[in-house]
Amino acid sequence: MNSTWGARVVYQIYPRSFKDSSGDGIGDLNGITEKLDYLKDLGIGALWLSPIYCSPMHDFGYDISNYYDIDPIFGTLSDFDNLLRKAHDKDMKVLMDFVPNHTSFEHPWFKESRSSQNNHKRDWYIWKKPKKNGSAPNNWLSQFGGSAWKFDEKTEEYYLHTFDVSQPDLNWRNPHVVDEILNVMRYWLKRGVDGFRVDVAYYLYKDPFFRDEPYNPAYLPELNMQYDSLLHIYTLALPETLHMLKKFHSVINEFDDRFMVCEIYTFLQEIVNLYRIVDHQSFAPFNFSFLSLPWNAQEQKRFIDEFDEMIGDDFFPTYVLGNHDKPRIVTKLGEDAARTAALLQLTLRGIPFIYYGEELGMKNMDIPKEKMKDPMALNMKGFHFGRDPVRTPMQWDTTQYGGFSNVEPWLPIEKESAERNVASEEIDKESFLSLYKSILNLRKTRKSLTEGKYIPLECKNPHVLGFIRRGVDEETLILANFSEEIQGVELPTGDWKTILSTKLDVKNRKEQNRVNLRPFEGIVLCI
Ligand code: NOJ
Repeated sequence: MNSTWGARVVYQIYPRSFKDSSGDGIGDLNGITEKLDYLKDLGIGALWLSPIYCSPMHDFGYDISNYYDIDPIFGTLSDFDNLLRKAHDKDMKVLMDFVPNHTSFEHPWFKESRSSQNNHKRDWYIWKKPKKNGSAPNNWLSQFGGSAWKFDEKTEEYYLHTFDVSQPDLNWRNPHVVDEILNVMRYWLKRGVDGFRVDVAYYLYKDPFFRDEPYNPAYLPELNMQYDSLLHIYTLALPETLHMLKKFHSVINEFDDRFMVCEIYTFLQEIVNLYRIVDHQSFAPFNFSFLSLPWNAQEQKRFIDEFDEMIGDDFFPTYVLGNHDKPRIVTKLGEDAARTAALLQLTLRGIPFIYYGEELGMKNMDIPKEKMKDPMALNMKGFHFGRDPVRTPMQWDTTQYGGFSNVEPWLPIEKESAERNVASEEIDKESFLSLYKSILNLRKTRKSLTEGKYIPLECKNPHVLGFIRRGVDEETLILANFSEEIQGVELPTGDWKTILSTKLDVKNRKEQNRVNLRPFEGIVLCI
C-alpha cells in the first residue's frame, strides 16, 4: 500500500488551450513541456492530460480514431515521450485521459462495423433493427440531446451513441473489444504513463434486453437537460460495468505506483462503494460534491465528514472545483468564496484536482454564437450554456493573445486576461496565483496537510466549516466562513496563530480564544 499519490496535487490540462508552441492557435504537447517549470514551481505533483490521441475532433479528442498515436495537432509520439521524460525528471506524474465507452465514427473499427451487417467488426458496436414503424429501437437518450440512436442508411440499422452522433458506443459484451481496450492501456503504461482518468466510467455496459428507461418524475424541462427526463437504470452503473472497472484497475496494478481516477457523477454512498470494489490506494472515483452541493457550510461539512469517515484512512478522497465540462468556480461563487473553496480543496485530506487557470481565478468567457465550437452547445441551441466558456486559452501574460499563441487562438481569450494572467499575478502579492502558491507551499512544509488525519470541528457557528489535520507531531487548523458577513468562532484550546488568510494580508497573527472571520474568508492556523 505504499503509494505516493496521497501527497500529490493533480493539475488538469486541456491541451488545446494550454500553450501553443507551433503557431496554429491550438495548444500542443511541446507547449506543455515548455511550461513544466511553471507547474513544478506551483507545487503540482501530477498532470492529467485531456485526450491527445488521433481524433477528427468533433468532441475535441473525446472521439478517438486511433488509440495508439498522438493527433498531429498536438505533436508526435516523440514529443509525448519527451514531455513524459521531462515531467518524470521533475517528479511529476502524467495521467492520460482514457475513453473506453465510445470511439470516433471515423475509427477504422467503426468504418468496418458500419460497412455491412456481416462484417466481422459489426458486433464491436451496438447495432439494432428499427421498430416495425421504422423508429429507434427504444427511448434511450443522448447526453448531447435527442435520441441515443442514429439510423444508418446503408445497413438499415440504428447504432447507439450516448454522446455525439460522431461517438458510437463500443459493445463491451464483445470479448474482442475488451481485449483490445486492455491492450491500449498496457501500451501506454509500458510507454511510461502513470495511469488514467477514465472517461464516463459508469457507462460501459448497457441492458442486454434494451428495455425502455422510465420517466424521471423530478425532471423540470426549463431547468434540466432532456437527458435527465429519464432514469438511467438500464444504461448506467450496471454490475458488469463495475466488474470491468475492477479489471481496468488490475491492469494498472500490473505496473508500479500507477493510478486510476474515474469520472463518475453520483451520490455519496455509491462513491464509497466504488472504493470498496477496488479496495486499493491506486484507485479513486472523482468526488464532485463541491460542484453539486449548495455553497453552504453545513451541507458541505455533512458531506465531507461522512465521506472522509466512510472511506477510511487507507484511501484517498478526491476534491474537484472544476473541469472542462463545468462552469468555472469563480463565475459560480464569486472571487472571495472561490478563494476559500480553493483553501478547502487544498487542505482537506485527499487528492485535489486543479483545472488549468483555476489558480489564476479564470472565469467563464461569454462566447459569441458564431465562435461556439462545443458540439453539446451546438446540438442544444438556446438551452445549454455549452462548455466553450470554460475552455478558453490559458492566460500567461498581457500580450495580445495572452501569451498563449502568437496567432488568433481557437477560442477567444477571456476578457479580463490583461489583469488575470500568470505574469501579472506573479508580482501581485494578493493575487489568486499567490494564494495558490502560498497554500501549496504550506502543503510542502506542513506534513499534517498531506499525511494528517481529518478531524471535524464542531464550530457552533453554522456559517463556518472547520477542521483539523492531525499529523504525528503537528496539527493544522482550517476555518472557512461561507457567508458574506463577519463570523466569530471559538478556537479549540491552545496558543493558535493564523499563518495564512485567503486575503493574504495576515502572517503569524497570535489569536486569543476566538477569531473573527471576514466575509468569505478562510484561514489556516497552527500552534
Ligand atoms: C465526458 C467528458 O468529460 C466530456 O468532455 C465528453 O464530451 C464526454 N465524456 C464524452 O466523451
